[in-house]
Amino acid sequence: MEQIKTKIENGDCLKVLKQYPDNFFNLIVTSPPYADSRSKTYGGIKPNVYVEWFLPRAKEFLRVLKPDGTFILNIKEKAVNGERHTYVIELILALREQGWFWTEEYVWHKKNCFPGKWPNRFRDAWERCLQFNKSKKFNMYQEEVMVPMGDWAKTRLKKLSNTDRTRDESKVKSGFGKNISNWIGREMAYPTNVLHFATECYNKNHSAVFPKSLPEWFIKLFTKKYDWVLDPFVGSGTTAEVAQSLHRNSVGIDVLPEYCELAKKSTAHYQYKICEDQAEYETNKQRKNSGVC
Ligand SMILES: C[S@@+](CC[C@H](N)C(=O)[O-])C[C@H]1O[C@@H](n2cnc3c(N)ncnc32)[C@H](O)[C@@H]1O
Repeated sequence: MEQIKTKIENGDCLKVLKQYPDNFFNLIVTSPPYADSRSKTYGGIKPNVYVEWFLPRAKEFLRVLKPDGTFILNIKEKAVNGERHTYVIELILALREQGWFWTEEYVWHKKNCFPGKWPNRFRDAWERCLQFNKSKKFNMYQEEVMVPMGDWAKTRLKKLSNTDRTRDESKVKSGFGKNISNWIGREMAYPTNVLHFATECYNKNHSAVFPKSLPEWFIKLFTKKYDWVLDPFVGSGTTAEVAQSLHRNSVGIDVLPEYCELAKKSTAHYQYKICEDQAEYETNKQRKNSGVC
């Protein structure tokens, strides 16, 4: 079995990525520092200069991503002076100008977000996962993230009302009734673009860890075994750890040496598994010949 490669690099991703060739990675999945957040740990970038800060790095991402690869950006704008800041919206527009194709926006619904009370809004229970590509044609393995049909099939599919059928059939003659019957008897369905994952509760000595399920879902959807995954803001190493467990090669970069150490620790325990897969065990004959009992 081919060995999985995992590299954790310390430095600004803008500089570190210069060593990598064009069109190298199959997937970039990352959660960058959010504007102004956690300025005491890894330095916040002011919301009004966020786009300016991000764009040169995104230019490198564009260069190192394969033409059929995908870039997933987990981000959420904060509220400033009582309203949502527009830097994420501005960033999307600027990335399009830079040459990215804004394919999709997934919503990460944080299932277990803690309660709170604010005078002008409710608790924030979702983040954006923006999907960018280099072109309209990219690799996507939809069957890898199918979900059980669940109760919807038991109830909705069995009780199709006449209105359901007549409404759609009247628009396009062979429409709804026929399509819906395609799903009868099936166990699995394609998911939606809303991802329900709990936030990470365990302390990884990093203040902004995302749940393993988040990179896992995108790695399964956009890569195959032995493809290359990049997280340019790898933090505690979640993406690299998940990539390893799914048999993908990966590179993780973080500007803080202490986070690189964490990421190295997160990825170290898989080395054992890799060695095991690689190991060629002694035959009985070889053992006898070596004289070792
Ligand atoms: C939101 S955290 C990522 C957390 C990560 N997803 C995890 O699960 O642990 C963002 C990370 O980006 C790092 N960072 C900030 N600026 C950077 C830069 N210019 N290059 C590389 N890493 C950077 C921070 O040190 C921080 O660990």
